[in-house]
Amino acid sequence: MPDSDTLIAVKPEIAARARVDAARYRTMAEEAARDPEAFWRRELRRIAWMREPTRIKDADFTGDVRIRWFEDGVLNASVSCLDRHIEAGRGDQVAIIWEGDDPGTDAKVTYRELHERVCRLANALKALGVKKGDRVCIYLPMIVEAAVAMLACARIGAIHSVVFGGFSPDSLASRIQDSECSILITADEGRRGGRAVPLKANADEALATCPSIRHVVVVRHTGAPVPMRAGRDLWWHDLCAEAAPHCAPEPMGAEDPLFILYTSGSTGKPKGVLHTTGGYLVWASFTHEIVFDYRPGEIYWCTADVGWVTGHTYIVYGPLANGATTLMFEGVPSWPDSSRFWQVVDKHGVSIFYTAPTAIRALMREGEGPVRRTSRRSLRILGTVGEPINPEAWLWYYRVVGEERCPVVDTWWQTETGGILISPLPGATPLKPGSATLPLPGVKPAIVDGEGRILEGATEGNLVLLDSWPGQMRTVFGDHARFVQTYFSTFPGMYFTGDGARRDADGYYWITGRVDDVINVAGHRLGTAEIESALVAHPKVAEAAVVGMPHDIKGQGIYAYVTLKLGVEPSEALRQELVAWVRKEIGPIATPDAIQWAPGLPKTRSGKIMRRILRKIAANETGNLGDTSTLADPAVVADLVANRLSA
Ligand code: WTA
Repeated sequence: MPDSDTLIAVKPEIAARARVDAARYRTMAEEAARDPEAFWRRELRRIAWMREPTRIKDADFTGDVRIRWFEDGVLNASVSCLDRHIEAGRGDQVAIIWEGDDPGTDAKVTYRELHERVCRLANALKALGVKKGDRVCIYLPMIVEAAVAMLACARIGAIHSVVFGGFSPDSLASRIQDSECSILITADEGRRGGRAVPLKANADEALATCPSIRHVVVVRHTGAPVPMRAGRDLWWHDLCAEAAPHCAPEPMGAEDPLFILYTSGSTGKPKGVLHTTGGYLVWASFTHEIVFDYRPGEIYWCTADVGWVTGHTYIVYGPLANGATTLMFEGVPSWPDSSRFWQVVDKHGVSIFYTAPTAIRALMREGEGPVRRTSRRSLRILGTVGEPINPEAWLWYYRVVGEERCPVVDTWWQTETGGILISPLPGATPLKPGSATLPLPGVKPAIVDGEGRILEGATEGNLVLLDSWPGQMRTVFGDHARFVQTYFSTFPGMYFTGDGARRDADGYYWITGRVDDVINVAGHRLGTAEIESALVAHPKVAEAAVVGMPHDIKGQGIYAYVTLKLGVEPSEALRQELVAWVRKEIGPIATPDAIQWAPGLPKTRSGKIMRRILRKIAANETGNLGDTSTLADPAVVADLVANRLSA
C-alpha cells in the first residue's frame, strides 16, 4: 500500500529550467502576501491592456461583499489571446490542434487563422444585433468553433454562457432563461465515442420555452440532416462567409463581465457564476504558466470539455493568453480503445497533459498494457483536477504514464475561483501523492471549525479563503444576494468553498471532498437537490432524497431513496423508468447508480431529512448511524438498512 505521506523530491532537471523554483516560489508568495498591490501591478502586464489600470485591488468580504480588481483598466480579452501573438510574429504558430472523435480526423488552426475566424463570427453576431453586455448561449461539442464562439463574444463584449453538450433540453432551457440569452450557438450533432449527440434536436426542444432567443447559429459538423426553422435558424458557415475578416475589439472595463457559467450548489437551481474580464484573464494566464511550467512552443493538452470551467480557463483563455498550442479533443479516453489518450500524446507530441482522476482510475482498471504500447516521451508535466485523487491512482499516473519522469500537479480549484488556487509547482514543490500541496502566491486559505474559528497547524475542517485573488467570481448573475448568502454567510468575512480539508504538519493541504449537498460524480459537480427535484417531478414519485456514495471509478456515485405515491407498486421496470427520467431531465451525467424504494425517509420532528443517516446507509456504514433519537419515526431507519442496495 502506498504511504500517502511519501515525499517525492523536486526533480533537478525540472527545477533547473523551471519558471518557478523553490526559492522563487518563496519570494513570490512572500511578496504577494506583504504587498499585493506591487505584486499584481507587475503581474497584470502579462496580458494586453488598452489602458493599464492604476487601481489594483478593492475587495471586501463583509456586508454586501465587493470584489474588484484592476478597476480602471480597459482591455479586450480576445486581443491578449490573438492579436498580440500575431503582432509578435507568431501568427503562423498553431493555436489549436483539434483531434476528432474518429482517430483519422484532426485539424490545425494557426493564430492568424483563429483571429480571422473569430473576427468573422464577431461581425456576424453584430449583424444579428448582438451588443456589448448581451448574453449568448453556446451549446457545442468539442470542436474549434467552441473556442471561436467564446472569443467572438469576447471580441464584441457579449457575455458567453457555455452549456455542456451533455445537458438535456430542460437543463439547457433553464440556463438560457435565467440569463435571457438572445442567441444560441449550436451544431447539427456532436460525436463522442463513436456515437452521435443530437445537439440541434435538443436545442429545438429547449427553445420551445425560451422566448428570449432570436436566432440560432448552427455549425454543420457531422452533416446529419437537421430541420432549420426559417427566420430563426442560420448556418454558421453562411454567416461567416458573408462577414468581414476584421473586427475592432470592443474596449471593455476590467470589471465588465466576460462570461457566465452555471454550476450546481446546495439548492435545486444552478447558479450563474459571473466572471469579469481583467482579473480573470490575469489569473488564467498566471496560473497556466506557473502551474504547468508552460514554455512557448510546447504542446499542451487539457482533456476537459469547454462546457466546464476547466475548459474555459485551461483549454481556451489561459493557454491562448500565453500563446500556447492547445489541443482540443472531441472524443473519450476509452474509444476506439483505452490507449487513445497516449496515442494522441504521441501523435501530436504533447508535453503537458491535464486530466481528471476519474479518467485515470478508469484507465488504471484496464492495466498497464494500453499505456506501455505507446511512447509518451514528449510528456514533461502531468496534472489532475476535479475531485480528490486517491494515492493509488496518483502513483499509477506518476509511475506508469509518466515513468517517474514527470511531476504530477494535483490542482484544487472551483468554477467560482476562476483558476487554480492550491497546487504544486513542478519546479518548486516536493510532491505527496493525493495532496494538492500548497497555495499559489496570492492565495490565502485557512481551515476553520464549525463556528468559523481559524485552526492553526496540522488540523482538519472547512476550507475557506481569507482574501480575494484576481480570478475570483464577482457575483451570481442577476442575484447578488444569493452570492453573499451562498459563499459569505456560513463564516462571515470569509469565502467558504464548500470543501473540507486537512492540513498536515508540512502545511500541505489534502482536500477531503464537499461538506455541503453537492456531489462530485466523475469530476462533474451535481447538486443533490437538482436530482431530487427531477425525481419528484415524475408523476409516480412522492418524495426523494439523494446522497453520494463511494464509487471505485467515479469517485462518487448517485444513490437515491424514493418514496412512491400511495397505491404505486415498486418494480424493476419502474426503477428503470426513473433512471431514464433523470437522464432525460438533467442529462446522462446525473444517471442514478442506485434507487432504493423507501416507504419513509428519516426526518427530524421538524421535518428535516437526516442526510447524515442516508449517506451512511448508502456507504454501507450501517454499524455506526449515530444518534437517531431525534427522528420522528426511528422505525424507517431499520427498514432502509434492511433493504439497502449493494450497487
Ligand atoms: C472538487 C472544477 C480535490 C472540489 C475545477 C471543488 C477537487 C469542486 C480538486 C469544484 C482537487 C476540484 N482535489 N477536489 N484537485 N479540484 N475539486 O466547480 O470539491 O466543477 O469544490 O470546478 O471540485 O468543481 P468545479
